This record gives sequence, C-alpha cells and structure tokens, in this order.
Amino acid sequence: MTSQEIRAKFLDFFAKRGHVIVPSSSLIPDDPSVLFTTAGMQQFKRYYTGELDAVKDFKKKNAVSVQKCFRTSDIDEVGDESHLTFFEMLGNFSFGGYFKEKAIEYAYEFITEKLKLPIDYVSVFAGDKEVPADTESERIWESLGVKNVKKAGRADNFWGPTGSEGPCGPTSEVYVRGVEVWNLVFNEYYCKTRINADETRIDAEGKKILTPLKIKGIDTGLGLERLAMVVQGKPTIFETDTFEPLLKLLPETMPVRTKRILADHVRGVAFLISDGVCPSNKEAGYVLRRLMRRTMVYLHLAGNPVKPVHLFEEVFENCERFYPELNREVVLEVFDEEHQRFQATLQKGLRELARAPTLDVRSAFMLYESFGLPYEIVKELGGDKAKDLKREDFDEEFKKHQEISRAGVEKKFGGHGLVLDTGEIKAGSEEELKKVTRYHTATHLLHQALREVFGEEIAQRGSDITTERTRFDFTFPRKVTPEELKRVEDIVNEKIREDLPVQFEEMPKEEAEKTGALHFFSAKGGSASGGKWKYPTRVKVYYVGHSLEGAWNKEFCGGPHVGHTGEIGQFKIMKEEASSAGVRRIRATIV
Ligand code: ALA
Repeated sequence: MTSQEIRAKFLDFFAKRGHVIVPSSSLIPDDPSVLFTTAGMQQFKRYYTGELDAVKDFKKKNAVSVQKCFRTSDIDEVGDESHLTFFEMLGNFSFGGYFKEKAIEYAYEFITEKLKLPIDYVSVFAGDKEVPADTESERIWESLGVKNVKKAGRADNFWGPTGSEGPCGPTSEVYVRGVEVWNLVFNEYYCKTRINADETRIDAEGKKILTPLKIKGIDTGLGLERLAMVVQGKPTIFETDTFEPLLKLLPETMPVRTKRILADHVRGVAFLISDGVCPSNKEAGYVLRRLMRRTMVYLHLAGNPVKPVHLFEEVFENCERFYPELNREVVLEVFDEEHQRFQATLQKGLRELARAPTLDVRSAFMLYESFGLPYEIVKELGGDKAKDLKREDFDEEFKKHQEISRAGVEKKFGGHGLVLDTGEIKAGSEEELKKVTRYHTATHLLHQALREVFGEEIAQRGSDITTERTRFDFTFPRKVTPEELKRVEDIVNEKIREDLPVQFEEMPKEEAEKTGALHFFSAKGGSASGGKWKYPTRVKVYYVGHSLEGAWNKEFCGGPHVGHTGEIGQFKIMKEEASSAGVRRIRATIV
C-alpha cells in the first residue's frame, strides 16, 4: 500500500463515518504562542474551548485531516530511523460528538480491518494525583479483544500542546510491530500554563493547571510516514515510498545519516518557504535558515553531487497534488538567494571550524555570527573538539544576542566587518549603513502606504533589505494591480516630499501597544519574516510625523532610520509577485 493509498483510505474511512474532511492548515499557525504547527489539533483548539462552533463551521461535530507538521524538538534525532522535522499527521477529531468508546472502536477497526495489521498492545493513562486512571479505555480495548493493555503516567499517556496552553487529556496509544502508530487523546481538560510576573511561563511537569474543558472531545494523531513504514514492512521510514526516491538521488558513498538529514530537510525547507517563512535570524526564519544551511554544507562537503533543485523537484512531484500551495518558483528563488548569501562565508567558516583548537559555546557562536555556520554543523563536523558543546548553551547565547538586537542596540561587530546586523538589515561599512538606513525608512513608508490603500487587513510577513533594494512580504489574497501599485508608490513619494521627521520614543511595551504602533503580535494572522518572538519589556516606537500622537506611521522597531523622509530619495516599485499562498512580495528601489 502506498502512502497515498493510506492517506486516501484514512480520509475515506472517517468521511464515511460522519467526519468532514478539513484541509491542512499552514505550518505557521495564527496562534502567537507557538512557532510552528506541531499537531493536527492545533487548528481546532477553539472548537474544544467553545469559542468556535464546529456545527456552525463544518455542519458536523467530527472532522478528519492530514496536517502538515513541523517539530524542532526532534532536529537532533533526524538521521536515525524514524525522526523527522517535517511530517504529515493523519487525525480524526470530535468536538462534543463521540468520545472514548467510538474513538477506540474506530482505531481498532481501521488498524485491524482496513490496514490488516495486528495490534501488539495499547497503553492507557495510569492515573495520578490530579487525573484519575483511565479504566474506561482499558475496558473498551478489552471488550474488542485487545488484552495487552499497559499503563503509564503523565510523561507517556497524557497529551497537551507543549509550550502553550490548550486542550489536553489522557491518551491511549496503539502499538503495531513495536512501533507507536496512533495516539488517541481524550480531551477533557484545559491546561493553563502559569505565567510569572515577568511573563515567563512555567511549563515544567506538575505545574500545569487543569480545568475541565467546555467541550469534551477527541484528538488523534498518526504520523503518516511512520505508519507507512509499518504498513510497507520497512525497517526505517527512509525506505518507504515517500523517501526512497529522494535518497536515490544521493550518491551511495554518502553516509546514510547525511542522506536522511538531506531528505528530511529539503522537504521541510520546501514546505516552510511555501507557507511564507523567509530565512532570517529570528524564530521560524532562523529554523528555516539552519535547515537550508545544513543542506548546503552537506552537499558542499560531498562535492555537490546533486543540484538542490533536483531534490526539490522530487518533493514537488511527490507532494504537489496534496499541497497546491507548494510554490516551486519561490522555494527555488529563496533557496538560491540564501545559497548565494552563504556561499561567500561557507568555505571560510569551515576552514575556521577545522582550525579552532576547541569548539565551546563562544567559538560556536562566533562561527554562526561571522560565517553563518549553524549550530548543528559545528556540533557534527566539530567531532571531538565539540564534544562538550551543548545545544542549550548555544541557544542561551543566541537568546542573549537576540535580546540585544531586538532592543535595537546597533551592535558593532568589530573584528568581523559588520557594522550592523539586525537580522532584517546588514551593513558592512558606514557607507552601506547609510544606504540600508534609507531603505529601512522607505520600507516603513511602503508598509503604511499599503495599509492606506488596502486597509488594516494587510500584515507584514517579512522584509529583507540590502544596499540595492527592499523586499517586503505582506498578506494579501490576490495580485496587486498596476494602478494600485502606482497609488502605493505615489503615497510613499508624497511622504518623502513632505520631508517628515522620523523619530522614536522608548517606553514600556504595554504603553507602546496603547499608542497603536504596528507590531507583529497585533497583526492579524501575521508575523515577521522570522515568525513570532517576544518583545523586550521596553521597546522603541519609531514614528513618521511631527508628534507620536499624530504620526502618519508608528511601528515597534529597533531602527536605524533616517532623520527626515526627504533623505530617502525617489522611491520606485520594481516588481510585485506571489511569495506564497496569500502572501505578496514587493521589491522596490530608491534613487
Ligand atoms: N495531538 C496528538 C499528538 O500530537 C494526537 O500526538
């Protein structure tokens, strides 16, 4: 049975049993508390809390989906037999419709009758101080003839979205040939993460606060790739029909682990870019950048035996029919741009890596900052020299750096030749700094002009500024007409002619929010190129106009900006195109 057949069988099975088929949501969720979509239930959270009504929206209380998921938690495991960053999750859901009995019966029937697989054993929640043992599920499994029922506690048999609040409950897992294939979650509670005065969350086990959920429900998940491995009787997911053709494109001499990493990463890259993520030094964009650069390094070290485009073509071929949002042109363009950007420092970085006597967190971070080498590469290629290097320490160092650049401090990178690097803008000399600063202010004007023409619905999805142009991505459902582009361009040039002052005020975040200044959290469904991040407690609000109150444009921003809009020069839009589904991209220059 091919993966495609499994997928079709699953959807058909549940559609015939009163479930509406709901398309996958984006890998970048609306929910600002999470970076990526990691489970099928994420798009349905509000049907369990009662905020949304499934019957009103879907005409049914039950849904079924194949959801694109991305998990960074498994990134270090990729390369073994079964871990992936990007994967597809099959799932059936009920929002106040059926509960344990039906969910278990469906799972039993699908596995044993439709897939004709024997169930080795199942697991149920053993109970603890807060939540009683799930004897009901145990009884239901036994009534179906599954006698091997294991019991386990919170760590294994209780599920809720990690790192954010949401519906949760005890689970029952189904094991086939020793592999956990299906996770049935019986959502009964709402888990609130405790928030400290300084807004840090405590997610540690036992500190979650559970309250009964408004709408009890079912949330299940089966990783399609893993299920295919079991159905197709393969020892690893990489030998299934999803990965086999990709691995075949890579030379036999390449280490198996490297091949698997490449196969995983090109899929992740294609899907992330198609959902509007741009490589950057922040959050989702940072994850994407690491996947891309790791791919580039491994291909480089193998002597570039295959062009990345051929790997991507295989992904498109395999997945396009299910995911029409896969955007060949944009994926290749973004990858190529990043490749060019990285090309300049890649070899030098690898040389430095080889030369370094030891690789501790400081030298690893220096290699990232100066040469763009991702942590994974330093760790993997560093060998013994990097044996004490730990991801947590690197992440900590990275966070420190981010806080500095978020707060808008224009960091001087003395020895490494960069005078400015905010993630969005980089400058290598004072002269470049002047240029990118003009572009930066022009980008604010462009953003505001777009809002003036199209209303408040448009949200920034990313921007990238070089000394040659600005590139601005924003949510918008269709092509922008030439007349509309002209209007946008005219507005920007008018504001330049007015020579308005550009100033900033620094204030606590809460106060800044009250000024109505644009920032990513409040942007509807929007996020920066880097996805979501937390602003520091004090932020700068840059504004274009004579006073903060009456300003034409206000944004949370670290700067730098020109003093007066007149310094920008003539603004010209060069190109408007699709960046991904629902996201448009404008390139503009100034002369
Ligand atoms: N939401 C559950 C999981 O991700 C099904 O395992």
